[in-house]
Amino acid sequence: MENLEGLRDEILAAVRQAPDLGALEGARISALGRKGRITALMKELGALAADERRHAGQILNALHDDVTAAIAQRKRELGRAELDARLAEERIDVTLPVRPGPLGRIHPISQTIDEVVAIFGEMGFQVAEGPDIEDDWYNFTALNIPPEHPARQEMDTFYLPGAKDGHRLVLRTHTSPVQIRTMQERAPPLRIIVPGRTYRCDSDATHSPMFHQVEGLMVDESTHFGHLKGCLIEFCRAYFGIEDLPVRFRPSYFPFTEPSAEVDIGCSRAGGELKIGRGGDWLEILGCGMVNPKVLENCGVDSARFQGFAFGVGLERIAMLKYGIADLRTFFESDLRWLRHFGFAALDVPNLVGGLHR
Ligand code: DAH
Repeated sequence: MENLEGLRDEILAAVRQAPDLGALEGARISALGRKGRITALMKELGALAADERRHAGQILNALHDDVTAAIAQRKRELGRAELDARLAEERIDVTLPVRPGPLGRIHPISQTIDEVVAIFGEMGFQVAEGPDIEDDWYNFTALNIPPEHPARQEMDTFYLPGAKDGHRLVLRTHTSPVQIRTMQERAPPLRIIVPGRTYRCDSDATHSPMFHQVEGLMVDESTHFGHLKGCLIEFCRAYFGIEDLPVRFRPSYFPFTEPSAEVDIGCSRAGGELKIGRGGDWLEILGCGMVNPKVLENCGVDSARFQGFAFGVGLERIAMLKYGIADLRTFFESDLRWLRHFGFAALDVPNLVGGLHR
């Protein structure tokens, strides 16, 4: 037999120094494979005399076991090293913010809806919805706007051809019909907020044939004008993020509320630049009032027992004021450069704890 010590050192060195799993497998084959060096020596055992065979057999078996064990150990080392290298290479910092690029941007109208819902949600209002195609009874009549009423003309209504059950179909001119649908479906106490699309035949820098409103409605046994004022003052200040924002209620008229008011917020127009906040000037931002008892009765709500307040806000208008958007038509042009500029990071959902602002 050849010099087994030398062979042993040589094979073990090849195993221990194998730089990767491929080289290790090569070392294994050349020692223990079918034509490997240890295998070849084992084949020679048969030609030896019995005594010699036992002795050489023990040595070869021990060598075989040592080499096998060394291969297993090197395999573990290489596996661990490979995993370490992969972990180092693929390391991610989970505390990094989401990369907004591939997710696109959130449209300012969606953002504004989320902000308004976050504020009223905190006050216990739930989101409600209704259809864009409305029956004229819900859009007008039930809201105390009779057929000959000038408000029907003022609103430049889109009428659809035909009628359903004797009612004309319209594209809703405001979100107020959802007040009616909700009161018909659910008994008070109610606190709802209704964001949605609305339509009027009108188009210029401050009007679009499709635009958005948010309607609010609260009905309970003891709801009064103080609740209306408290909720809306809080809303204006939270939405614009100005704690001492002046808010004023000016008497107005809506058929569906009595008394009615328009809400103005403080601003400054000094130097031709509009700035929301203390500044001596006023800017109208929404309409509101105590729900007209006739409207409650039209929905089957007992007006002797329940009263409520309602309001309606134009979403584009408050978005333009807050985010400095000059032309309403740009909201609907789908101009990607505009969206990248005025849009919001996806997953950056507004809430009152994290803050509503960028
Ligand atoms: N529906 C009105 C409009 O479109 C806005 C409005 C005013 C809604 C007063 C209300 C309200 O609920 O109480 O101009």
